[in-house]
Amino acid sequence: MIRKYVYGNPIPTPAVVQNIEAEEDSVQYLTELEMNGKIILNYSMENDDIVYGLGEANRGLNKRGGLYRSFCSDEPNQTEDKQSLYGAHNFIVITGMISVGFFVDCASEVTFDIGYTSSNILNITPGCGDFTIYVIEGRSAYDIVKQFRKLIGRSYIAPKWAFGYQQSRWSYANEDEVREVVKKHRQNGVPLDAVYLDIDYMDGYKDFTVSEERFPAFPEFVKEMREQGIHLVPIIDAGVKIEDGYPIYEEGRQYQLFCKRADGSDFVAGVWPGKTHFPDFMNSNARMWFGSKYKTFIDIGIEGFWNDMNEPAMFFTPEGVAEAKQYLDNFDFNTNEPWKFFELKDKLTGLSNRMKDYESFFHNMDGRIVRHDSVHNLYGANMTRAAGEAFEQIAPDKRFLLFSRSSYIGSHRWGGVWTGDNQSWWSHLLLNIKMMPSLNMCGFLYTGADLGGFGCNCTRDLLMRWLGFGIFTPLMRNHAALGTRKQECYSFGDTEDFRSIISIRYSLIPYLYSEYMKACLNDDMMFKPLSFVYPSDNFARTVEDQLVVGESIMIAPIYEQNAVGRYVYLPEDMLLVVFKSSSVRRYQIMKKGMHYIQAAVNEVPLFVLKNKLLPLCRTAQSTDALDTSMFEIIAFTDDNIEYMMYEDDGISKNYDDPAHYVPFAIKDMDGVFGAVSPKKIVKLALF
Ligand code: GLC
Repeated sequence: MIRKYVYGNPIPTPAVVQNIEAEEDSVQYLTELEMNGKIILNYSMENDDIVYGLGEANRGLNKRGGLYRSFCSDEPNQTEDKQSLYGAHNFIVITGMISVGFFVDCASEVTFDIGYTSSNILNITPGCGDFTIYVIEGRSAYDIVKQFRKLIGRSYIAPKWAFGYQQSRWSYANEDEVREVVKKHRQNGVPLDAVYLDIDYMDGYKDFTVSEERFPAFPEFVKEMREQGIHLVPIIDAGVKIEDGYPIYEEGRQYQLFCKRADGSDFVAGVWPGKTHFPDFMNSNARMWFGSKYKTFIDIGIEGFWNDMNEPAMFFTPEGVAEAKQYLDNFDFNTNEPWKFFELKDKLTGLSNRMKDYESFFHNMDGRIVRHDSVHNLYGANMTRAAGEAFEQIAPDKRFLLFSRSSYIGSHRWGGVWTGDNQSWWSHLLLNIKMMPSLNMCGFLYTGADLGGFGCNCTRDLLMRWLGFGIFTPLMRNHAALGTRKQECYSFGDTEDFRSIISIRYSLIPYLYSEYMKACLNDDMMFKPLSFVYPSDNFARTVEDQLVVGESIMIAPIYEQNAVGRYVYLPEDMLLVVFKSSSVRRYQIMKKGMHYIQAAVNEVPLFVLKNKLLPLCRTAQSTDALDTSMFEIIAFTDDNIEYMMYEDDGISKNYDDPAHYVPFAIKDMDGVFGAVSPKKIVKLALF
């Protein structure tokens, strides 16, 4: 049951696809308070209530105890105290004696104080008085999530090749560096499907250009890579360089497609290319115009993109620099008030992403002029929409890979997200694990983090453990920042262990892709907290570092340095499978309860659920080369069971064809249990 309440005159957002009549009476479950002219929606939590949601947000799966500010932020230093990350996903579910969900559809910032100020009080404070709130009642948290997912519409569906392993770095600066990456993966037998082009592929960081010096024959190069099974994925940044003669700058100015200052001039901010203008993604003409530019690359065979810097991130504005200069000029270096130096430092470091700058430019929302801060959280989402809608025009029957850094609920229908600039820290591996189900709750299914960590130097063991988790995430991309230690699999000496771990991914792809597709097509989650699957198990409710992935497996990733194993809670009897490589495994049936399981740094444990089966194919060097005519089955059952695998060509969009569903079954055939399927079953491990 979903009820809708409208406050003031909300700016339309693309979040919701269902038409629901607004209620006339006051909002259920929440008490309206007012403080400093702002509405606060207040809820009293019970001691045992769990609060799920908020998608790409900091801290745990249970959000209790934290203060979260939904305000898309360029935040690479994701320490525990940070309140805002790159996405704004204003959906929460409270579950305990009763379960209820709230979605605050609000284009400006929203604060969620979830027991931070007072442990049992939840306060939701929208940044302005114009917003819509949806109240969702249901039998359980999971039921509420499923209703919410129907409300916001079907998630973006990635092509199957995007389930392959992908290698990125800021930056592989020229053709030869990219060739080298591919060669080293292929030589070492490490599977690979995509290499990313970060900002240096461009000419002067200008969107939709290619540096002729670094990539002198780009179309031929794209083709050469495709022949080797590699997709090149270029980055597209939000800011358009100000440069006379650069067509995109000239067109944007001529047709008034950039964000404006109050005086009507085009707003200026410094990003990678130096001074830029921001396309007004809130405007449908600007979206259509910017979206059409992707065709330049699509025409030469590019099939995937990542949209970046779209919070939008600003290194500085001329106004901010002028203010800081003036402050510096007036600064008394003979002061005996030491805190003044901190003020000075803040003035200079605070030049980036200043609130004052976000308050100083305007959008033309098809006739309605709005100040940026009142729609801040929609900017990146509308950049994703610009690209997604363009792809539908350019090649309506084809899927493209598309994911963004900044996002709002609604943009999950046009693209996925990566979780932005994390660090090579063990704590960020854990954050990645905890964030996956929250992102799924909010509709983001094609998602993943920079594996190995973006900032800081990665170590061999961290990368290996992170890949040990990353082999389950739809986006499996190793990405690292400029100036950090090399992080490709071959950068740490021997590659054998990396080859083994990534090979496991490829043998899991039919299962993972199937579970991903079913989750997309049924508005469901691929990564679930244990409590969603075992709702009556009180201990399972508290587990945050184990996840159920699809219908057949539970994972318990190891995320601590030098650990030789970990404690795992089993809500029922399960089959432990420890993968040493795609074909070398050990099995152990384990009873419900707490166990310590061992898995060396080069091993990946997973658990097959009771009465479920896991199909595995033979590993390959790229997704194109996967042979899905033959399967090995691991099953944990003493009864007849069935698994329905979703399989399609991975690129076209006729999702609803019943032929895409392939049954696998364990059946009693004249007293002997065996596996049956239209596929060839080469091996059965039945427990
Ligand atoms: C941003 C992105 C990062 C990218 C870098 C250079 O920090 O988040 O992934 O490598 O910009 O383009």
